[in-house]
Amino acid sequence: MNIAIIGTGYVGLVTGACFADFGVNVICVDKDGSKIERLKRAEIPIYEPGLKELVEKNLREGRLSFTTEIEDAIRRSLVIMIAVGTPPRGDGSTDLSYVEEVARTIAKNLNGYKVIVTKSTVPVGTGSLIERIIKEECPENHRFDVASNPEFLREGSAVEDFMRPDRVVIGAKTEEAKAILKDLYSPLYLIETPFVITDIETAELIKYASNAFLAVKISFINEIANLCERVGADVHVVAKAMGLDKRIGPKFLHPGPGFGGSCLPKDTMGLMDMAKKQGYNFRLMSAVIEINQEQRLRMRDKIKHMLGGTLKGKTIAVLGLTFKPNTDDIRESPAIDIIKLLLEEGAGIKCYDPAGMPNARAVLGNSVTYCQDAYHTAEGADCLVIATEWNQFRNLNMERIKQLLKEPVLVDLRNVYNPQRMQKMGFRYSSVGRC
Ligand code: UDX
Repeated sequence: MNIAIIGTGYVGLVTGACFADFGVNVICVDKDGSKIERLKRAEIPIYEPGLKELVEKNLREGRLSFTTEIEDAIRRSLVIMIAVGTPPRGDGSTDLSYVEEVARTIAKNLNGYKVIVTKSTVPVGTGSLIERIIKEECPENHRFDVASNPEFLREGSAVEDFMRPDRVVIGAKTEEAKAILKDLYSPLYLIETPFVITDIETAELIKYASNAFLAVKISFINEIANLCERVGADVHVVAKAMGLDKRIGPKFLHPGPGFGGSCLPKDTMGLMDMAKKQGYNFRLMSAVIEINQEQRLRMRDKIKHMLGGTLKGKTIAVLGLTFKPNTDDIRESPAIDIIKLLLEEGAGIKCYDPAGMPNARAVLGNSVTYCQDAYHTAEGADCLVIATEWNQFRNLNMERIKQLLKEPVLVDLRNVYNPQRMQKMGFRYSSVGRC
């Protein structure tokens, strides 16, 4: 089977490489000619463990190709997956112009039955919109189906998530489309992956509901953490005991500076906007978003408090700039937001990240000092902040860090270190939800 994947961003590229590895012939399409040229040489524009090896292998074995020729890719494929960007507009709604543009191009190039699938996270109703566009703009009367097959890929473990998903969701109208999509995922039958086969609207909503629920869990545990600090409780023990209840589950109960990334912030806003357009006030979502934004301010205040109530003229060493470890993505990163808040109050920033420095530089420019490693970052600073929990920050030589810092102040926003041990070593130590 030939499939075309339109858009070689995060989702498109991982999806394309993984389907090729399943034995499908995949044509990955992008408008960006230089990106396509690099991909043809297996040069991967994003940091994602395992992806380069997968692209190299499937290029070599001839199942994966890259092109800018969208018309040709459409004509040669039975399944067309739309994985272009769906950026948020300022008001929280989703910009669907790239999806609409692709739908128009598909309409002009239909040359037989095809299944057109949305992979990008799109508001409920986008499947019908694509169907309308294709019906209106297709010059000939070809049969086609629209389907929704949302991805649940986490950055940093996207390949693993694709190969061993918790579930595959397929939303379509006809049995034919459902069967074709199920067939694409047939290698997953061996590992008994659950399949949820449903209508398009339900599939579209499943994606939002899943991401929004993860956001609820994070904002919930952050509120519990804030309360723990006030009553002298330990949030980790609370989270552990909560998680042992099978109805709650242990995941996504780690407190910190709030959620970031390209999905959770966008999808919570998107869900709220979708509800609003239906005349429904999704109050829980607005609280989750507000708590998440305020958590950044609380982290700034925590650092300020540890520095005696003022940030002006203080040098703060920040470790970790990406929104989470194992990615170079700084979109909606709490670390970047907190740095901006600290700069606003007159602090000087030294920072380091194992993979996110080039992206951070594009946003922060010369307003901060970029360092070579954790130790260089700590040197001469009034305080060390751990903003993202990269593995290499988990086992730092803390004696050395203490010697390098001007003041032995450690603000651990990801609760990586043991509070008692740090205090015993002579650090003034603060974390989230632990006294
Ligand atoms: C998320 C979803 O997990 C994935 O299913 C979806 O397809 C895309 O969005 P991703 O954005 O890659 O994936 O990151 P994720 O691992 O979910 O983390 C999101 C944010 O939440 C990060 O900033 C992370 O630090 C934060 N987080 C996560 C917490 O603060 N606490 C937790 O317990 C878990």
